Parts: sequence; structure tokens; C-alpha cells
Amino acid sequence: MNIIKGTNRIAIVGKSYTIKFVRIPFRAAIREVVSIAKNYHKYNWKAAKLAIKLTEFNGPFRGIWANYREWSASAQLGDNVVPTRFSFLDLFNVVETASLLNLPRLKHTYEYPGYGDVHTFREPGNYGWHKGKLKLLDYGSPKVIKYLLENGAQFRRQLDVFGIRHSGKIVGRVLNSKGQIFDAVLKQLKSHFPEIEDPRLWDIEDNETTFAQEVAKMSIRELEQAFIDLVGGRQPVIESSAHFLNGASPLISFLDSLSNSELECIHHFRSAIGRIAVIKSTLQLEERDGILTEERKLQLNNRLSNAFKYKAFIRELMIRWDH
Ligand SMILES: Nc1ncnc2c1ncn2[C@@H]1O[C@H](COP(=O)(O)OP(=O)(O)OP(=O)(O)O)[C@@H](O)[C@H]1O
Ligand SMILES: [Mg+2]
Repeated sequence: MNIIKGTNRIAIVGKSYTIKFVRIPFRAAIREVVSIAKNYHKYNWKAAKLAIKLTEFNGPFRGIWANYREWSASAQLGDNVVPTRFSFLDLFNVVETASLLNLPRLKHTYEYPGYGDVHTFREPGNYGWHKGKLKLLDYGSPKVIKYLLENGAQFRRQLDVFGIRHSGKIVGRVLNSKGQIFDAVLKQLKSHFPEIEDPRLWDIEDNETTFAQEVAKMSIRELEQAFIDLVGGRQPVIESSAHFLNGASPLISFLDSLSNSELECIHHFRSAIGRIAVIKSTLQLEERDGILTEERKLQLNNRLSNAFKYKAFIRELMIRWDH
């Protein structure tokens, strides 16, 4: 058994179940209650409701709200979260135990699922392994719940890739030959092409999951081999890049070409996304017009799967292009 203190809850972690007790700082709670009681005569119903609402985000009773929200949202959030099984008046919740991820704090928000636009997502201590999947174990914030309700499937795919990338040894990183990181190159690019989307933040599409997971577990050496396979062969997935294969380090030559030419960079970022859209709509149109033969369908689906490989590869390489 293990006792872990969070800001708002204390977790007593058992083998199968964890109990999350609300942490109420005693003095602050007394002060809050006294202040509400003193001002009681000033309250009408609306003001009282507002006062209670304010304790939701601030003050000593946040833990109660967190337990309340986790208990009410757990079932709806499905396998993105470690399930809450029981709540005693929101004072303590019984949840299934997850084994912690044990990750040092990551530098960049894009490395987290949900891209870290919600504070909870940026804290590795909020994730745990449960029944073979990485899940969120702290989901008491309304922002988290809203995000997960709206982006549940996307978040699940990101969690899987994140789990794979960070469950092994230290994640391999690579720099261009000038020792630059991708952030520097992207900043420069954005000053001329503000509309360009950061590939590290591209959504992971359903059909792309397998490739995204494959590249997430690769070392830099393996990523280089993947690159060689993608640009080489009779039908290269990444076209017009075979000349990189002549140098000693094809992957670094590729990063150099992205750093040296904004057009080259834009070309790869746009075509990785654009190709998927074009093939998908071709499939749709030909099917609608009744001209999609089995052979043609196979051929287009093959190209689509290559396009997904291209996208997943570029995303992963840009994530690893860092210190
Ligand atoms: N289901 C669980 N299985 C294993 N450990 C857990 C579980 N739930 C919580 N913990 C541990 O207890 C800690 C505190 O729980 P949690 O993060 O939910 O509380 P909190 O007070 O809302 O946290 P914070 O300090 O992030 O605001 C977690 O960081 C984790 O280490
Ligand atoms: Mg927490």
C-alpha cells in the first residue's frame, strides 16, 4: 500500500483499488465557512449559488468537486480514464489502481496527448497503465472532461502513441548538421508562412494509428532505416528524395534540406496531408460514379496507406528533432 498526496486529494493506493480522499486544508476551510456565515445576511439565492460555484475552482473544497466530477464522468469517458467505481458523498472515491507511468516532466506540450492545452495533460504523474492501456487517472477538472468528451477517440489514439514512445528506454532525438532543433526552423518558416501547421500537432487519424505506433517505438537508427525505405525502391512513398541516400547520413541530410529550403519544408508538410485528402476524395468520387473496379480500389488503398506512412513518419521525425 502506498500513500500519495496530490494537491486536492490523497490517494491510498492498494493492489487493485485506490481510494482518493478529499484533502481539505483545515484552517482555510474554517475561514471559508466563517466568511460565508458572516456574510450570510447579504446573500440572496443568486449570490449564494455564485459563492458555492466559486468554491469549484478555488478554495479548500476543490477536492470535493474533483471527486464529484470524476465519479459522474467516469463511465462516459470510457477507456481514456482509469474508472471510478464508487463514491461516498464525494468525500472519498474508490477507483481501480493503475501503475504509474514514471516519466520525467517533458519539455514540450506537443509531446503530450491533448497537446497539453489543459494543465492536467502536462503532468506525467496523471497517467497510469491500466489493463494494458495508458489512461488518465486525474480527470477532476471540467476542462479535461470537456476535452475528452469532444475528442475522445483522438485522445485515445494519442495516448497509445504517447505510451509507446515513452514506455521504453530514453527517446532518441536527432539534430540537423548545424545542431539546430526543429523549433528554430519552424519559427523561421512561420514568419513567412504563418498558416503552416506544426506537423507535431497533426491529428492522428484512425487509419494511421498502426504507422504512428510503429515509428513511435523506433530508435533514431531505425527511423533512418524507415526513411531509406520510404524514399527508396521503385515506388517511393516520399518522392524526389532518393539523392539523400548517397550521403553518409540520409536522415540528417534530409533535415538539412528541410532547414535550408523553406519550399522543401512546405512541400513535405503540405503533401503529407494533401495526398491523403486527394486519394480519399478520388476513392469517393469513383465509387459514386460506379467506375471503381476492385483492382483500382486496391491500388488507391495501397497509395492511401503509403500516404499515411508518410504523414506518420514526418510527424514523428519532427517530434524527435530536438535536444
Ligand atoms: N487510480 C490510481 N492508481 C494509482 N495511483 C493513483 C491513482 N489515482 C491517483 N493516484 C496517485 O495519486 C496522485 C494524486 O492523485 P490525483 O492526481 O488524482 O489528485 P489531485 O489532488 O487532483 O492531483 P494534483 O496534485 O495533480 O492536483 C496521482 O498523481 C497518482 O500518483
Ligand atoms: Mg494529479
